[in-house]
Amino acid sequence: MAILPRILRRLFPKVSQTPGLCRRFGAPAVTPEKLASHWQKVFHDHGIPEPEESSEILIAHALGAKTFHSMTSHMARSHISAEELTLIERMAQERLRRVPVQYIIGEWDFLDMTLLMRPPVFIPRPETEELVGLVVADCPDLRRSPAPVILEVGCGSGAVSLALLRRIPQARVIAVDKTEAAVSLTRDNAERLGLQHRIDILQHDVLSDPAERLLALGPVDVVVSNPPYIFTEDLSELEPGILRYEDHSALDGGPDGMDVIKGVLRLAPHLLSSNGDIFLEVDPRHPDMVEKWLQDHSEDELHLLNVVRDFCGKSRFLHVRRR
Ligand SMILES: C[S@@+](CC[C@H](N)C(=O)[O-])C[C@H]1O[C@@H](n2cnc3c(N)ncnc32)[C@H](O)[C@@H]1O
Repeated sequence: MAILPRILRRLFPKVSQTPGLCRRFGAPAVTPEKLASHWQKVFHDHGIPEPEESSEILIAHALGAKTFHSMTSHMARSHISAEELTLIERMAQERLRRVPVQYIIGEWDFLDMTLLMRPPVFIPRPETEELVGLVVADCPDLRRSPAPVILEVGCGSGAVSLALLRRIPQARVIAVDKTEAAVSLTRDNAERLGLQHRIDILQHDVLSDPAERLLALGPVDVVVSNPPYIFTEDLSELEPGILRYEDHSALDGGPDGMDVIKGVLRLAPHLLSSNGDIFLEVDPRHPDMVEKWLQDHSEDELHLLNVVRDFCGKSRFLHVRRR
């Protein structure tokens, strides 16, 4: 409770001259809207990215609403309690240290799912929702097959694997990631969504662990991956909060961003059934590089079938097929 007068003094520096504001605890009443504009300004003044969204998300979460705009008009007009104010202050201080809002509130929506989020596991990005749509749309056989198997390399929070399981009810997924934190978060999210019986989750590094471990689970119909694909020299351009709190091994794809992409392309032919598909999310510079790599490794019998743009118009997704 000791923190409360400090917050209120900051919100209402002239509180002693504003007697009409006094309500509970002998303190001024604060509505969500007033508090949102206060924290928006503080975040803005401190150079925090997306100050308006940050402020609204934290306040909505503290008040038990999904989004600021989904709050009932009653909720939006009612006064925030001392406990809620303390919670919002604590979360806002974290945001001022540039902790991503997803880690602060501990969850994030991906398509039709709310997933648990825990640092340093990669926070799913909006374009990856399109990767899921592409797999479903471009693989009609996947939906027709009685028991298709999908391998996801680099499952992170489980976003892609779990979204695919929800869209293809007869599918089974093998989800692998090199970090224990990602494996554990995917497991928790699978259980939360009641999908744990249709997914095998393994800690496996596709660049160093023996492929035989995965061969025992194959063959698979589709390999999907949103690998780390940022060129190492571009990492420094990322927002400082990302660099400070998200796992670098989820971002850094090596000097040309191709380290794990090549790992997936080397592994896939051993696991894929004939005419099996690979879907990759990549940097816009990668389609040409991958096509060249595939030509130089023709023994792998893979060819680039399609390059698909994301909602920003950037070449973002590759559809590769085994001949
Ligand atoms: C960009 S994140 C994608 C996470 C998740 N699929 C998503 O889209 O939100 C890349 C993931 O690949 C994992 N990863 C990186 N290198 C790997 C490797 N050599 N083998 C397996 N997983 C790897 C990282 O730990 C991280 O979780």
